[in-house]
Amino acid sequence: MTAHPLRLGVNIDHVATIRNARGGDAPSPVRAAQMAEAAGADGITAHLREDRRHIRDEDIANLMAHISVPLNFEMAATDEMQAIALRHKPHAVCLVPERREERTTEGGLGVAEDEARLARFVAPLIECGCRVSMFVEADRAQIEASKRIGAAVVELHTGALCEAHLAGEFDARDRHLARITEGARIADEMGLEVHAGHGLDFETTPLVAALPQVVELNIGHFLIGEAIFTGLPDAIARMRAVMDDTRPPGTA
Ligand code: PXP
Repeated sequence: MTAHPLRLGVNIDHVATIRNARGGDAPSPVRAAQMAEAAGADGITAHLREDRRHIRDEDIANLMAHISVPLNFEMAATDEMQAIALRHKPHAVCLVPERREERTTEGGLGVAEDEARLARFVAPLIECGCRVSMFVEADRAQIEASKRIGAAVVELHTGALCEAHLAGEFDARDRHLARITEGARIADEMGLEVHAGHGLDFETTPLVAALPQVVELNIGHFLIGEAIFTGLPDAIARMRAVMDDTRPPGTA
């Protein structure tokens, strides 16, 4: 398969959310991941939350064993998660902030505020070969701190941009887009790989896919929701088409 200039990482957390609503094993996140892979996902993302509300420990082991595209393991910067990551050695680790009461990851990680601890935290992950990514707001201080602690990647938070778009607040959306555009430029200039994600759908993806520095989008909730109506392969194929329309293959 040819490498896409703009990769699509499919987050399968909410397949596990549906499974956990009933207990048992179905629907299987691994089956969803395999189907996503067959439909053109360049990677699979799974977030093992402290409260295990969707992905569980055994899902990470099963995903590592049964998918052939890279696994992006999202986690909070806790000792427990670090030990799990060091045990599995996924292709990538993305550090995200986590509060028990939030419904989803609500803001970027405060790398600048916690720099010394995070530098110590990521060192063994980098040492064991994981591509470490920091999920941050598109803010110069956070991007510079991510670079200083040795991260290879910043994933820019697109949640506020997408919320403003959904609410029809287009001035606010454009302000968020300007901020993300500048963040992508700053990060790329520093030699960081630039990813983006959170809240993206068919309407907002082109806004972010158009930024030439962005090489990976991570998308979950919308695709799993869309899959209920049209199936996962169709939802992914349509997202891939939206991305390719914005940035045609061969125009990296
Ligand atoms: N990127 C990161 C770092 C995330 O935490 C999430 C949500 O888990 C996503 C991308 C995907 O967001 P969504 O499910 O809204 O597409």
